[in-house]
Amino acid sequence: MSIKFKQDNLVGQSNSFLNVLDQVSQIAPLDKPILIIGERGTGKELIAARLHFLSQRWDQQYLTLNCASLNENLLESELFGHEAGAFTGASKRHEGRFERAHGGTLFLDELANTPGLVQEKLLRVIEYGEFERVGGSRSIKTDVRLICATNEDLPVLAEQGEFRADLLDRLAFDVITLPPMRERQEDIMVLAEHFAINMARELGFELFSGFSEKAKRTLLDYHWPGNVRELKNVVERSVYRTNNAYVPVHDIQLDPFESPYRPRQRIKAPRQQAQALPAQDSTNALPVATTAVVAAKSNLFDFSQVQDFKTLSQDFEVSLIKQALAASQYNQKKTAELLNLTYHQLRGYMKKYQLLESQQA
Ligand SMILES: Nc1ncnc2c1ncn2[C@@H]1O[C@H](COP(=O)(O)OP(=O)(O)OP(=O)(O)O)[C@@H](O)[C@H]1O
Ligand SMILES: [Mg+2]
Repeated sequence: MSIKFKQDNLVGQSNSFLNVLDQVSQIAPLDKPILIIGERGTGKELIAARLHFLSQRWDQQYLTLNCASLNENLLESELFGHEAGAFTGASKRHEGRFERAHGGTLFLDELANTPGLVQEKLLRVIEYGEFERVGGSRSIKTDVRLICATNEDLPVLAEQGEFRADLLDRLAFDVITLPPMRERQEDIMVLAEHFAINMARELGFELFSGFSEKAKRTLLDYHWPGNVRELKNVVERSVYRTNNAYVPVHDIQLDPFESPYRPRQRIKAPRQQAQALPAQDSTNALPVATTAVVAAKSNLFDFSQVQDFKTLSQDFEVSLIKQALAASQYNQKKTAELLNLTYHQLRGYMKKYQLLESQQA
């Protein structure tokens, strides 16, 4: 496990990133809890591992747990362990992460939504270095350095009462805040080259021929909401799709889901819109009705909104005719041409919808 973490080297030379690395080196040897905050994909896990490997505990256990992946009971038992018979299915005694990480470091990822009961137990473990297994009464001593990470604004959650303020105080002896990719513009190409070379190596290429100017522009102009992880994916995909060691990477596809055949998620039209259709009788009814038709054509229309197919279709026809009449200054011959109908067909529709009377009036 430790080998995997050691091989992941942190790449970057922007000031904001180098400042973080300095902070990490400074704080790593201290036996204090650390909080890492950063948007998704900014490298929180790598920083946590670096904190461990630069500490005196580097040759001891480094255990991690994603707190968001488990429900309250499982999380409690994974962290603190349980005694045999503590709950249905607990046939054997189970040692939790705090017990197994004794002497080492425990990294708790995605800490923000940890349930209150677990927060309470965490507080106690930090404060007194002891806890009880689930279903047990004996206090167990442990010496674990805690590193936590989140992409949420914990002080705000604490203000809103969704995270214990006293736990936050104790966890945040110091806080490392990772800069997002958009604040590390000068690292984009450095990271891109790094990921591209690794990918080329993985594909068995003898060399990597770099990026074309257009590809560089695309990479530099994008805002990278998914940060380093997204950049890594985009670059690796581009290298493997180019699939030629001797040609610079030219095509960068930022969105792998982009395809003319992509099945669309239906977007729910607001209910009042569908109901408003029959009521619209002015000439500006067309945009609404047209929206419905365009939406229907592009698969975006929520068909559960169609309460009366016939009325909806008729309303569309009426609004279309009214728009065409207005556009041709109420000249019926021109209106028919606009709608690609014969004059008699148009008259038929106008009669059906009692539009002739309003014309004569
Ligand atoms: N400075 C860096 N140098 C090299 N690779 C990096 C760097 N930062 C992040 N990465 C890579 O980017 C990916 C995302 O990093 P990581 O998993 O640590 O992000 P995270 O902040 O934990 O994201 P999330 O909040 O989504 O869990 C990983 O593949 C990691 O190896
Ligand atoms: Mg993570």
